Amino acid sequence: MAEHRSGQWYSGTDRNAYIHRAWMRRGLSAHAFDGRPHIAIANTASDLTPCNAHLNEVAESVKQGVYEAGGIPLNLPVVSLGETLVRPTAMLWRNMAAMAIEEMLRANPIDGVVLLGGCDKTIPALLMAAASVDLPAVVIPGGPMLNGTFRGRTLGCGTDVWRLSEEVRAGTLSEAEFLQSESSMIRSRGHCNTMGTASTMGLLAEALGMVLPGLAGTPAADSRLLERSHETGRLAVEMVAARRTPSSLLTRGSFLNAIVALAAIGGSTNAVVHLLAIAGRIGVGLTQDDFDATGSGVPLLVDLQPSGRFLMEDFFRAGGLHAVLREVRDLLDPSALTVTGKPLVEHLGDGEIWDREVIRPRAEPLQTHAGIAVLHGNLAPDGAVIKPAAASPHLLHHRGRAVVFDSIEDMHARIDDPGLDVDADSVLVMRGCGPRGYPGMPEVANMPLPAKLLRQGVRDMVRICDGRMSGTAYGTVVLHVSPEAAAGGPLALVRTGDFVILDVAARRLDIDIPADELAARSPDEATVSAYAKPRRGWERLYVETVQQANTGADLDFLVGSSGDTVSRESH
Ligand code: FES
Repeated sequence: MAEHRSGQWYSGTDRNAYIHRAWMRRGLSAHAFDGRPHIAIANTASDLTPCNAHLNEVAESVKQGVYEAGGIPLNLPVVSLGETLVRPTAMLWRNMAAMAIEEMLRANPIDGVVLLGGCDKTIPALLMAAASVDLPAVVIPGGPMLNGTFRGRTLGCGTDVWRLSEEVRAGTLSEAEFLQSESSMIRSRGHCNTMGTASTMGLLAEALGMVLPGLAGTPAADSRLLERSHETGRLAVEMVAARRTPSSLLTRGSFLNAIVALAAIGGSTNAVVHLLAIAGRIGVGLTQDDFDATGSGVPLLVDLQPSGRFLMEDFFRAGGLHAVLREVRDLLDPSALTVTGKPLVEHLGDGEIWDREVIRPRAEPLQTHAGIAVLHGNLAPDGAVIKPAAASPHLLHHRGRAVVFDSIEDMHARIDDPGLDVDADSVLVMRGCGPRGYPGMPEVANMPLPAKLLRQGVRDMVRICDGRMSGTAYGTVVLHVSPEAAAGGPLALVRTGDFVILDVAARRLDIDIPADELAARSPDEATVSAYAKPRRGWERLYVETVQQANTGADLDFLVGSSGDTVSRESH
């Protein structure tokens, strides 16, 4: 049998092998170095990532599985990102986490890795890292929290925060009532329980083939999560023996399967930038337009918040991902493999819908055409995205007068100004929120509606931004406009009063002014001065090297893979 990678540290009788073994002998016996596979557990558990705080318990179950299968499990705490806490936005740190995790996987004596994630950016960062190292790798999504409840009503975290806070601004809910709901919303361990980014990316990791089939979507508090984590530990040992690496699993077909799943579950728009970034690491030619071409004809089958009614606990009870994928099985690439070595489609036999309110059969979809629409036009030459399922149907074809904000701060300062010249037909435009301009592409595209319009009963308007939108948010929001304003995109040239045309059916987003007039414009000084200009550290590196949203917003020098090559010895 070929020696494992870790043998390059531990095999032999020389001084270096002695050092490597001796320092690890704190509970490990000589058997640990007799050629068994060493499995890292890349663990994003952190008290400051509350959605992932339970992953240490998950790691213990993985360890037992690894031991049982004859491997050596090794806990590897890695950079973690708490979506609700880290500033200025967790997306600024996704690439940093991916880079740090990649380097630590490559630098250490390991043969395979179990990736423990949950909160929004953690699974994307783990998958980007694993793709660039290409060691056998399997993901355990930490799972959603249980349904929140307040005064007999179910509360979905995230989505209901937006909804309730808008009610306070509209004067239909008191501040005291709003604050009372705070302790009821987060009812258990786990990540957000709507079909937000965390739920979406956990499910898509399985649709990609990178999760033990049937695990994704298991609530964090459900004992089956630990049982399947134990099984995943065993599987990781098997994967090392079979040399089942990300590059042997992740094909274009795998990503197209994930896009089909994204549409059928009504997943987060954030999945677009994350899947593009992962594909870039593994060398799969995926484009933003693939999301429209493959996903827009897929029916929406899942009735979950933010645009629907139910939550992830209901989704799991109703049959989960396999029940959904079985309905669209004919749209899936039958050759795309999973961590088990078998195709994804071969694992769908157990998929059954147990609650047709939560998961609809193919013949009775919530919408016949779901997914992400990719728009082009003179306002977004490299594309922009909109999630029609979360938008208001009457606004999907709209011509309105732009009200332009140069930054989040500018928007907050003026949005509720009674003197703001805005009406329900206006189009709210915000720039300076892209990867480079903010920096980090925050989730602000679903900007709040002007208070005076809320009081008139307006609940949605067309909004356009070069930033992202929270997966738990909803509305007629055009986001990821590329190139962003700070990268020279025409979004920087729009002026308050210009007419903007959104035509989702035609996939167009345009400023309604003559081309020569647009070409003659240059950005205002106020617009340019709002862009970030970091002087040092990660932010400077990020701003100087980050790519645009339409290719995944990875750093230019991180695209691709360096493999699992063992570096030279320093002792
Ligand atoms: Fe962690 Fe929503 S805040 S998943």
